Amino acid sequence: MVFFASVWLVIASIQFAAAESCDSVEDGYTCSTEFSHSWGQYSGFFSVPSTIDASVPAECELTFVQMLSRHGARDPTAGKTATYNATVQRIHDSVTAYSEEYAFIKDYDYTLGADQLTTFGQQELINAGYKFFQRYAQLTGSNMPFFRSSDQDRVVESAQNWTQGFQQALLEQDAGTTVSLPYSILLLPEESGNNTLNHDLCTAFEDGPVSEIKKSAQTIWQNVFAPNITARLNENLPGANFTDDDTINFMDLCPYNTVADDEGTVSPFCNLFTTDEWQSYGYFQTLGKYYGYGPGNPLGPTQGVGFVNELIARATGQAVVDSTSTNSTLDHDNATFPLDRKLYADFSHDNDMIGIYGALGLFPADVTAPLSNTTRTSAEDAGGFDSAWLVPFSARMYVEKMQCGADAEEKVRIIVNDRVVPLQGCGADELGRCSLGAWVDSLSFATSGGLWNECFV
Ligand SMILES: *[C@@H]1O[C@H](CO)[C@@H](O)[C@H](O)[C@H]1NC(C)=O
Ligand SMILES: *[C@@H]1O[C@H](CO)[C@@H](O)[C@H](O)[C@H]1NC(C)=O
Ligand SMILES: *[C@@H]1O[C@H](CO)[C@@H](O)[C@H](O)[C@H]1NC(C)=O
Ligand SMILES: *[C@@H]1O[C@H](CO)[C@@H](O)[C@H](O)[C@H]1NC(C)=O
Ligand SMILES: *[C@@H]1O[C@H](CO)[C@@H](O)[C@H](O)[C@H]1NC(C)=O
Ligand SMILES: *[C@@H]1O[C@H](CO)[C@@H](O)[C@H](O)[C@H]1NC(C)=O
Ligand SMILES: *[C@@H]1O[C@H](CO)[C@@H](O)[C@H](O)[C@H]1NC(C)=O
Ligand SMILES: *[C@@H]1O[C@H](CO)[C@@H](O)[C@H](O)[C@H]1NC(C)=O
Repeated sequence: MVFFASVWLVIASIQFAAAESCDSVEDGYTCSTEFSHSWGQYSGFFSVPSTIDASVPAECELTFVQMLSRHGARDPTAGKTATYNATVQRIHDSVTAYSEEYAFIKDYDYTLGADQLTTFGQQELINAGYKFFQRYAQLTGSNMPFFRSSDQDRVVESAQNWTQGFQQALLEQDAGTTVSLPYSILLLPEESGNNTLNHDLCTAFEDGPVSEIKKSAQTIWQNVFAPNITARLNENLPGANFTDDDTINFMDLCPYNTVADDEGTVSPFCNLFTTDEWQSYGYFQTLGKYYGYGPGNPLGPTQGVGFVNELIARATGQAVVDSTSTNSTLDHDNATFPLDRKLYADFSHDNDMIGIYGALGLFPADVTAPLSNTTRTSAEDAGGFDSAWLVPFSARMYVEKMQCGADAEEKVRIIVNDRVVPLQGCGADELGRCSLGAWVDSLSFATSGGLWNECFV
């Protein structure tokens, strides 16, 4: 009996160790960080090291936080999942022999779904809500956030999972709270109408020549870094006859299979590539964001203007002034756009967040020189413009206001995935902060229309 019991204990502890999650509340994704933080927007949230101390200075008291979150890890979008499935089918149909390292692919079944959050992705958001409550305990104990979400399933579900984490932390602090789930969340429709949490209205951006810049920039870089990888894949998978496009799709199988696992266990696909190759892949994703939705696209930041004008309204307690993507019916109604809250939580997508960072002027040309299409620019050299730093699954931006000592005016600061992103163009101090008035003045791109008129020429 004793013998069996101890064997059982050993087995149980091994299983526990194997099932330990790669995700954590504080640090986010922590497995194989030498390459798992180089998967661009397919990386799981991780706490990005901050050059500037991200804690609230002792002499300051927080007065306001606007959070903007990306949904959690999901399955590939419908189109991509069909492509990946076809790639795997083709390998199975045409590869004549598998080298040792690649042998697992022979028995690999493509089972990923489409568009929905994975269990791992749901847990990311639960962790995010919990972490937010703790970080902002000064405010969260006595103030409920006002919630909005773009209405696609995975975004709404992310918002709901976030509230679960927030509620859990609230209950731990105050077991007798009268607050209970579900929290009310205002949904902004994606299929029609104006929506500051989902781009769609600006036709020159959606369908015009500027929509081609992303593809062009990524292709130039793909032609630099992918051919050697393609050659190696074709050696190890004779008969596959991969193109460089196939190689990118094949690499995508690493992050997607990783986040499809409940604990985020690193997929065997990941080990077929070097750390250097993952950095090149991450840079490919970064170029896509920079030239697709960021400052590298003439109308990228324009897509974030509506949200920034809403943020100004909330931060200053003044009605929204905007004629881009805001819905004036919603924004001029206290029930759907209150101005007296201290906490706001909005849920959206990666591309929208990139446009919003642009509209906030966080990556101007003197900080982020136009990213090279032919050599890798490091995240540091790009002034922090790195897709994995900015918009991983469950990414979160915090816009904080704080009252410090006897200062006449409040200060504003922005933190993206735990990294302070110094404000630009408003005389930021050594902690990356500006006074509220100077910050609002610096947002003239948004307050003056943000080139919205160029959307319809
Ligand atoms: C993959 O494609 C095959 C063949 O078209 C299809 O039968 C299968 O359902 C697909 N699997 C997934 C997970 O999409
Ligand atoms: C996340 O939220 C969805 C929708 O509310 C819910 O069905 C799911 O169970 C939640 N996930 C977890 C892990 O609780
Ligand atoms: C604005 O919001 C109102 C209230 O939800 C809705 O009825 C209307 O269709 C929306 N209009 C636009 C242009 O989005
Ligand atoms: C990268 O490529 C895009 C699209 O061709 C182009 O607009 C941009 O100027 C290029 N960037 C640099 C730094 O050359
Ligand atoms: C590709 O391989 C060639 C030959 O080994 C090498 O000279 C070249 O530097 C490699 N290119 C990249 C981008 O790694
Ligand atoms: C490999 O693919 C190329 C085009 O991608 C095609 O021209 C060629 O015939 C293919 N080779 C084989 C052996 O299938
Ligand atoms: C929706 O946005 C369009 C385009 O900016 C604007 O003309 C219209 O007035 C907006 N509608 C509402 C209800 O805000
Ligand atoms: C909305 O809030 C403002 C400021 O608190 C208040 O003056 C106004 O009466 C409110 N309007 C409605 C319709 O409740």
